[in-house]
Amino acid sequence: MPSCPEPRRVSILGATGSIGTSTLDLIIDGGDRYRVEAVTARTKVRELAAIARATGAAYAAIADESLLGVLRHELADTATRVGAGPGAVEEAARMDADWVMAAIVGAAGLAPTLAAIRQGSVVALANKEALVCAGELMIEEARQSGCVLLPADSEHNAIFQVFDAGRIDAIEKIWLTASGGPFRTATRDRMATATPEEAVRHPNWSMGRKISVDSATMMNKALEIIEASHLFPVGEERVGVIVHPESIVHGLVTYHDGSVLAGLAAPDMRTPIAHTLAWPDRIEAPSRRLDLATTGQLTFEMPDEERFPALGLARIAIRSGGSAPVVLNAANEVAVAAFLDRQIGFLDIVSVVEDTLTCVETVATDDIETVIMADGEARRRAEEVILKRSERTS
Ligand SMILES: NC(=O)c1ccc[n+]([C@@H]2O[C@H](COP(=O)([O-])OP(=O)(O)OC[C@H]3O[C@@H](n4cnc5c(N)ncnc54)[C@H](OP(=O)(O)O)[C@@H]3O)[C@@H](O)[C@H]2O)c1
Repeated sequence: MPSCPEPRRVSILGATGSIGTSTLDLIIDGGDRYRVEAVTARTKVRELAAIARATGAAYAAIADESLLGVLRHELADTATRVGAGPGAVEEAARMDADWVMAAIVGAAGLAPTLAAIRQGSVVALANKEALVCAGELMIEEARQSGCVLLPADSEHNAIFQVFDAGRIDAIEKIWLTASGGPFRTATRDRMATATPEEAVRHPNWSMGRKISVDSATMMNKALEIIEASHLFPVGEERVGVIVHPESIVHGLVTYHDGSVLAGLAAPDMRTPIAHTLAWPDRIEAPSRRLDLATTGQLTFEMPDEERFPALGLARIAIRSGGSAPVVLNAANEVAVAAFLDRQIGFLDIVSVVEDTLTCVETVATDDIETVIMADGEARRRAEEVILKRSERTS
């Protein structure tokens, strides 16, 4: 594919978040090589306005409709057009851009990510939940629109870089590494008393609260198994997980001849984002550099699926098919929010997901409407599961 002419038109969905901010670092560092078309956020209206002002974005959209007046006021003296509500966020995703960063957290990113894919540019996918819920639909829509879907998640990005897509039959296994999170060596008893503050304190990465909790339960890796099974057509049984506490090796591909190719980098999301931003070229990025001599040691261990049962649930959801991954994701989002709100304990998160998966019937998800319906139903059932638990304990 030829390099894209400059300035490259870019949009950032979820511009105020952890991934959005890392993306902005690269865009600002690149100066006039980029022109920002659209930026979006949910509630951080002043941060969004500051980003729009700093980048000269053509359009700024805030998901919370009640904040339209504030956004309009903040950007009154600029040429930035403003919008509010979920429709405005989708409009931002549909704008004519050469590259879109999909970095809204959770299933809320589903419709905007799909809109970006239908628009047919390069979409850098951080919003793994969208692929978990509607992977087949997204891959098919990308095929139809000619959109290039590039994984921004560090593990999938590393695998993408060493995955010989022209020789899938030569691939034995792909490996996602996992840091193990803050409770890698903790007992279940210790985890039972974990607070939200402890759970979001990730040893290697600075991330949004939801993904930080997902890392602590290893639900993040569970979602990534599902994500990988859509991005790399090798079959779920050939998607392995290995714990690597240093977070230096992000992903590996084992070939049938015994060769193992791995993607390494310092734990800095600007590196995989820069790869998607420049693809198929490379740019110089202000990311942290890897110094293996200083790192000294790289260690690996198999995950303990008894202490971290989320991994097994991902495989059950993939094998069940249909809406099961949607249910897993929705129940997890509800349970994580309840944990952060101190309504349930840390270990309850994955057990709420398991109970919800058991009590919700799996249905076919042939289009985005059925995915959204399954997501809504699963959220209601997960809330019921949480309510019943709190009634039992009170
Ligand atoms: N952080 C990482 O290092 C990392 C690594 C790999 C993958 N990812 C994935 O990237 C995605 C973003 O993660 P993050 O850590 O950047 O999350 P984050 O820091 O919480 O940021 C989320 C972004 O989405 C926006 N948002 C939230 N709810 C929304 C809604 N209902 N409608 C529209 N926008 C909404 C937020 O706006 P406000 O700020 O206004 O709330 C914010 O801009 C997640 O899917 C995560 O799994 C993250």
